[in-house]
Amino acid sequence: MTDADKAPHLPIGDPVPVAATTTDGSTGARRSSRLDSDEGRRAALVESLPVPTDDTPLMAELQQDARRRIELRGRRFPQPQQTRIITVANQKGGVGKTTTTVNLAAALAQSGLNVLVLDNDPQGNASTALGVEHRAGTPSIYEVLVEGAPIADAVQQSPDVENLWCLPATIDLSGAEIELVSMVARETRLRNALDAYLEWRVQNGQAPIDYVFVDCPPSLGLLTVNAFVVGREVLIPIQCEYYALEGLSQLLKTIQLIQAHLNPELHVSTILLTMYDARTNLAQQVAGEVRTHFPERTLRTTVPRSVRISEAPSYGQTVMTYDSGSSGALAYLEAARELAERGADGLGDGAPGVDAQPALAAVNGHDGAGAPNGEQGHIQPDESHDDRIRMNEPAMAATQEEQ
Ligand SMILES: Nc1ncnc2c1ncn2[C@@H]1O[C@H](COP(=O)(O)OP(=O)(O)OP(=O)(O)O)[C@@H](O)[C@H]1O
Ligand SMILES: [Mg+2]
Repeated sequence: MTDADKAPHLPIGDPVPVAATTTDGSTGARRSSRLDSDEGRRAALVESLPVPTDDTPLMAELQQDARRRIELRGRRFPQPQQTRIITVANQKGGVGKTTTTVNLAAALAQSGLNVLVLDNDPQGNASTALGVEHRAGTPSIYEVLVEGAPIADAVQQSPDVENLWCLPATIDLSGAEIELVSMVARETRLRNALDAYLEWRVQNGQAPIDYVFVDCPPSLGLLTVNAFVVGREVLIPIQCEYYALEGLSQLLKTIQLIQAHLNPELHVSTILLTMYDARTNLAQQVAGEVRTHFPERTLRTTVPRSVRISEAPSYGQTVMTYDSGSSGALAYLEAARELAERGADGLGDGAPGVDAQPALAAVNGHDGAGAPNGEQGHIQPDESHDDRIRMNEPAMAATQEEQ
C-alpha cells in the first residue's frame, strides 16, 4: 500500500456541481457567473493548499490528491458530438487494459455520460470488475459474435454506477477465436452488432451512448481484430516497467493493416501510462521515453501503482466505487476528464490522431535510450523480438486474405 493510500483524505469539502450542462433556463450571464464562481472557488481552494517541498514526498502526494478532489468532484464532463468508440489494446499481458477500461468507463459514467463496456476477453475480467453476471451460459458477447444475437439481449446494467452498461464475456468466448475463422464477415461481426445496438437504443427512446470501451485480450487474434474494426480510436495502456515498448511495433503494424483494409477511421488517439511509481528511476525513464515518441497522445495524467486499484475487482467493483477518494480513483477520474476534454477539443474525437505509420517509424527507430546505466536494454525496438512475438495465425491469415 502506498503512503497516499494509507493516508487519511484531507478534510476538504466537495465543490458544488458545475453548471456547465445546466438546463434550468437561467440566462447565459447568470450561468457563466455561476460557472466563474465555481471555478473561482475551486481555484481559491487549490491556492490555499500548502506548497510541498522536495523533502516531503508524502505531503506532495496528499497535496496532489487534494487538488484533484477539488478540481474534479462534482464536475460534469463534456458530451461528445457522436459516440466515441475506444478500443483498449496492448498485446502484452497485465499492463492494465482491463483496469483502465473499467475505471475510465466508471469515471465517465459518474460524470454524467452514458457508457458501454464491451468485454471482449474470454478472461471476463472487465465483467468481474463491473459486478455483472458472467457465469458460463449467461448471454454474452459470445452469442453476439458467434451466433449473431443482438447486443440488447445480453447487455447488463452496472449494479453500482448509473449510466454504465456492460456486454459481459463468459468462458464460452475462449472457443470463439477458432469458431470465427470459418465464419462469414468474421472481422466485422462486432461492428455490425454494435451499429445495430446503437441504432436500436435511439429507436427505442433510450439515451444515446456517449462512450463505448472495448476491452481486449492480450493477443492479436480475431477477437482483437474485431475490436479494432468496431473501434474508431485505440487507447494503449503502457505499464511503466521493463520492456514497456516491446511489442508496440507489432501492435502498431496490426493497427496499420486494419486501417488499410478494414477500418480507415481507426487511429491511436490515446496512450495512458499505468502502474507508475514516481519513486523509481525506471518508471520515470519509461514515461519519458513514451512521451518522446508520442508527445501529443500520451495523457498528462499517469496512473500510480495503487493497492486500492488492485483490490477493487475482488469486490466486484471498480476503484471509482470501491474507494473514490483514493489516489488511484482520482488519477482515473483525472485521466477520464483529459480524455473527454481532448475529445471535445477535437484532438481525440474525429481528428486523425496518430497515424500508425509515423508512430511505427518512431518506435522502430528508437535506440533503447533511457535504459538504466546506459544499457541497450529494457526498451528495445521490436524487430529484435519478432521471433518471440507472433501474431495469432488465424487472425493474420484473416487479415492477409483481404489484401
Ligand atoms: N495502477 C495499478 N496499481 C496496482 N495494480 C494494478 C494497477 N493497474 C492494474 N493493476 C493490477 O495489475 C494486474 C493486471 O491488470 P489488468 O488485468 O488491468 O491488465 P490487463 O492488461 O487487462 O491484463 P490481461 O492482459 O491479462 O488482460 C491486475 O491484478 C490489476 O489489479
Ligand atoms: Mg485484461
